[in-house]
Amino acid sequence: MSTPAPRPGILDIDPYVAGDSDTPGAARIIKLSSNECALGPSPKAITAFREAGNHLYRYPDSAATELRAAIAGEYGLDAVKIVCGNGSDELLTLLAQAYAGPGDEVLFSEHGFLVYPIIARFAGGAPVVAPECGLTVDVDALLDKVTTKTRIVFVANPGNPTGSYLPVTEIVRLHEGLPGHVLLVLDGAYAEYVTADDYSPGGDLVNANENVVMTRTFSKIYGLSGLRLGWCYAPSAAVDVLNRVRGPFNVSGPAQAAAVAAIADTAHTEKVRAENETWRAWTSRQLSALGLDVAPSVTNFVTVRFPGDPAHNAEAANAFLVAEGILPRRIANYGLPDSLRITIGTEAEMRELAATLSRFMEKP
Ligand SMILES: Cc1ncc(COP(=O)(O)O)c(C=O)c1O
Repeated sequence: MSTPAPRPGILDIDPYVAGDSDTPGAARIIKLSSNECALGPSPKAITAFREAGNHLYRYPDSAATELRAAIAGEYGLDAVKIVCGNGSDELLTLLAQAYAGPGDEVLFSEHGFLVYPIIARFAGGAPVVAPECGLTVDVDALLDKVTTKTRIVFVANPGNPTGSYLPVTEIVRLHEGLPGHVLLVLDGAYAEYVTADDYSPGGDLVNANENVVMTRTFSKIYGLSGLRLGWCYAPSAAVDVLNRVRGPFNVSGPAQAAAVAAIADTAHTEKVRAENETWRAWTSRQLSALGLDVAPSVTNFVTVRFPGDPAHNAEAANAFLVAEGILPRRIANYGLPDSLRITIGTEAEMRELAATLSRFMEKP
């Protein structure tokens, strides 16, 4: 008897494993596994979300007009070049589906976001990986891997799980080295956390070129992961493509309403950014003082390398933290088996984390 079978390659996809959110028996959970926003969304976004509950019988605005205008106003962009999605994951997936297919190559770097190989394979393309240098994207290594089959290059800037970033000059150099038919996708999920002068998430590059797309999200600094809302800034031709293939109502009404309110509450966003910076610096100092190797980060997480001895390695640290109800992210599947990725939480959460890791490092 025959049974339905997915297209060749689909069963080669390793499912994405989300960060832990619970552990049995813990009195309280400190979830530091998914780079969510420590302070949560703006209270005004929650009010707008609740109000949107009165209109659930209506389809949302298919064009997300108000939201795109709000994004354009906040970031100085052109609203007609913005497309919203059900999380930036949706937009990344649609871009892969639309621009890559069987026989094509989709390029990204060694410690790149794990969604990239999934969506490359889903599109029928072949994922190609370029090495990184010191936990940072290496532009020359990426350019070395470009072939006539390359269709898309995904670069998370800043990177997840590395927390590092490339200055705009390096992104421009990467773009200049790519043939015109290759789409450069700059994934700026953590862009709002970066305060470095030499950083740009890529809006100018999109405006000046036909082959650059920038993706962004409301899941991180805006604290709206649960609503699933992302957006991209793209050349008109790519906007046209995305509007042909996306679901007509891919962003819910409550998500649109909450996001408009979240953008308007710039004081909340500023507070989130400042608190994150304070507690990222504090956490990095505390963990470094314990002898741990904390990679410099411009994001709302740090990647921490543990010693090699079995009593104090990343696996043991993870088990110790989880037993205490503190949930970091193991990143062996990102090629970093000796490290844990730890989201920057609230002051109280970071103090608990540091105290717990101090006990862990002191144990024989
Ligand atoms: C680098 C990177 N890109 C994209 C995403 C997806 O974000 P969204 O929640 O908008 O789908 C994440 C989420 O963790 C991420 O780390």
